[in-house]
Amino acid sequence: MAVNIDWSSLGFGYIKTPYRFVARYKDGKWSEGEIVTDDKIVISECAGVLQYAQTAFEGLKAYTTADGKTVTFRPDLNAERMAQSAARLEMPILPDGMFMRAVEQVVAANREYVPPYGSGATLYLRPYMFGSSPVIGVKPAEEYEFRLFATPVGPYFKGGVKPITIRVCDFDRAAPHGTGHIKAGLNYAMSLHAIVDAHRQGYDENMYLDAATRTYIEETGGANFLFVTKDGKVVTPKSDSILPSITRRSLCYVAEKYLGLTVEHRPVKLSELDNFAECGLCGTAAVISPVGKIVDHGKEICLPSGMDSMGEITQKLYDALTGIQMGSIKAPDGWLYEIK
Ligand code: PLP
Ligand code: COI
Repeated sequence: MAVNIDWSSLGFGYIKTPYRFVARYKDGKWSEGEIVTDDKIVISECAGVLQYAQTAFEGLKAYTTADGKTVTFRPDLNAERMAQSAARLEMPILPDGMFMRAVEQVVAANREYVPPYGSGATLYLRPYMFGSSPVIGVKPAEEYEFRLFATPVGPYFKGGVKPITIRVCDFDRAAPHGTGHIKAGLNYAMSLHAIVDAHRQGYDENMYLDAATRTYIEETGGANFLFVTKDGKVVTPKSDSILPSITRRSLCYVAEKYLGLTVEHRPVKLSELDNFAECGLCGTAAVISPVGKIVDHGKEICLPSGMDSMGEITQKLYDALTGIQMGSIKAPDGWLYEIK
């Protein structure tokens, strides 16, 4: 039965779909895990997630390809990052294969919610894990839930691929040796005030700097940066407190191997901004969202690519990446995982 959704008008919001995956960790082991219909969770008032934010999540998408297959993009890398997040937050690692099984089963069960090819929408998958048993002294919980739900989404930023304006932010996102490199819920909680404040001041997003020296560019609240120099090189910031974006890593590969561009992954100084011709935010939700203007405490840095459309190289990267994801350009081996 076809669902009644106007795919092209979707923003990045939550729409409840019928099926989700749940597995529970108790007495030192994970349950088998199963698909359920209930979207509600009942946990102790003193659960680790509620008291001490012991939770991490992932984000990936399912696509309908040009030839009608349902695929996900590099889910093995999300599984790997989920394990890194769990380890850093003292949560149990999932058994081998469970993450992929959850992806497969949830997408298959909700297949009619995978938007059609060319609709501009995708099925966003949200795996997450949290401490579910009571803790009152500060320590890891003894019991956990791993869940994965799906929701159809459109573009993360209103206006789709129109360039956005961002500001250099005075709040920090991640400390050196902290949790910036994993997908901990706490990183996002502490970005909420900064993003509400940015919106209030008329900006679409925050550019966070390194917390120690405030001289290097890190990332935004939900995406890595990708810059293009005036001589056509792709530059992406490197730091131990940035989330290792799967989209960014894929784009760097595509830039080099498909487009023949030079790629530099290195620390990027805030003072280098004037040298760049294009800027984009890259991530699963953001795909590549072009940045037209960066405001640093009153100083406006207007990217030469302008406020009307994506820069030329950003557009090439966008077309190549989305072409690979939707099956119109041949993907490198292992990048597309078909849901049968
Ligand atoms: N940086 C942050 C802080 C994020 O939340 C995300 C989203 O997952 C990204 C970067 C992009 O990562 P990915 O491309 O793996 O989705
Ligand atoms: C994603 O891109 O999957 C994320 O988790 C980012 C989030 C801000 C929506």
